[in-house]
Amino acid sequence: MSSKTDVSIVIPTYNERENITRLIKILHDIATENGFSYEVIVVDDSSPDGTADAVRAVQDRYNIKLIVRPGKMGLASAVLEGLRVARGSVLVVMDADLQHPPEVLPEMLKKALSECDIVVGSRYVRGGYTRGWSPLRKLISRGADSIAKILLPKTRGVKDTMSGYFVLKREVIDEVSLNPRGFKVLLEILVKGRYKKACEHPIEFRARTWGESKLGVTEIFNYLLHVLNLAHESVRFVLVGGLGTVINLATLYFLGYLLGFEHWISVLIAFETSTLFNFVMHEAWTFKSAFSRGVFTRLAEFHGAVILHFVSQVAVSNLLFYSYRVERMLSQLVGILLGFFLNYVLSRYIIWKKLQ
Ligand code: GDD
Ligand code: MN
Repeated sequence: MSSKTDVSIVIPTYNERENITRLIKILHDIATENGFSYEVIVVDDSSPDGTADAVRAVQDRYNIKLIVRPGKMGLASAVLEGLRVARGSVLVVMDADLQHPPEVLPEMLKKALSECDIVVGSRYVRGGYTRGWSPLRKLISRGADSIAKILLPKTRGVKDTMSGYFVLKREVIDEVSLNPRGFKVLLEILVKGRYKKACEHPIEFRARTWGESKLGVTEIFNYLLHVLNLAHESVRFVLVGGLGTVINLATLYFLGYLLGFEHWISVLIAFETSTLFNFVMHEAWTFKSAFSRGVFTRLAEFHGAVILHFVSQVAVSNLLFYSYRVERMLSQLVGILLGFFLNYVLSRYIIWKKLQ
């Protein structure tokens, strides 16, 4: 590495006063030994333990930019905030808690300066491993990774998509808009970044010595939401359709059994309820964007699409069964799938056509 190589190292912190100062010292020594220039960018969310003060105390010794945000605003947005102010040509993201081994950074940088645009510190390539994790924690991490692989094809080349330790050339994210409400910054970058090759470098994910980890149910939920937001529109469309069906049945149950409505009236109300639910979800989530037509036009058109969906479902099923002698369950299934597909195409390309 030449001394011209300028590396920005982004480190989010929340209650890491013991860890961060050690880490900064280690990073400084590594940079000196390997002859590259660096800036450390600490993004602290006003940690109650006084992390920011601990950083300030060493600021004249090392090259540190300190960003203090008014309160705990989340890891992903902290990382993006740090990346925004980073000036280096190579960018690094790592945790403050010494779970990400700083010693391998020179090798990761070397890879990022040669054939790779992104280098992920990985527990799941040969030589990498995790220490001090319960089987449950491992299972959750693996499960989360599998969900990403299924729904986000661009992440398939990387084994450890959950990693929070990675190096990239700045061009990868220059002029790319990354969502600060996302959960895993690496996923954002793998899906939206401009790169040819993502590589991995084995790391030993160490046990934490000070403080505690923050994984909980909310994190898992936020993660799933993040993956769905990055996924193709059709994934959200199908999911909303499924939820809409559940709402339809729930409404029917409520009106039929609890209020004793006439069945055909319940059916109509349930239809309208689930159609409105689908509409609102598609507006606010599935297709979220600026659209080329007005909201009431979209509402009317969507009703048309849903009706067409059911008419075509019934028509296809009957056509296959009576005219082509296809088995009845199969006829029905093809009808359902085609109806759904028709609804999606109309929704995606006509009703919620994006404003260019
Ligand atoms: N500024 C800021 N704001 N920093 C935060 C926040 C926050 O709200 N929450 C966590 N951090 C900091 C922590 O201080 C630490 O430096 C880093 O972000 C990671 O937080 P941990 O709580 O230590 O995460 P973990 O050990 O559970 O998870 C790690 O493992 C994952 C791999 O499965 C992290 O490294 C993830 O990035 C990684 O993906
Ligand atoms: Mn950690």
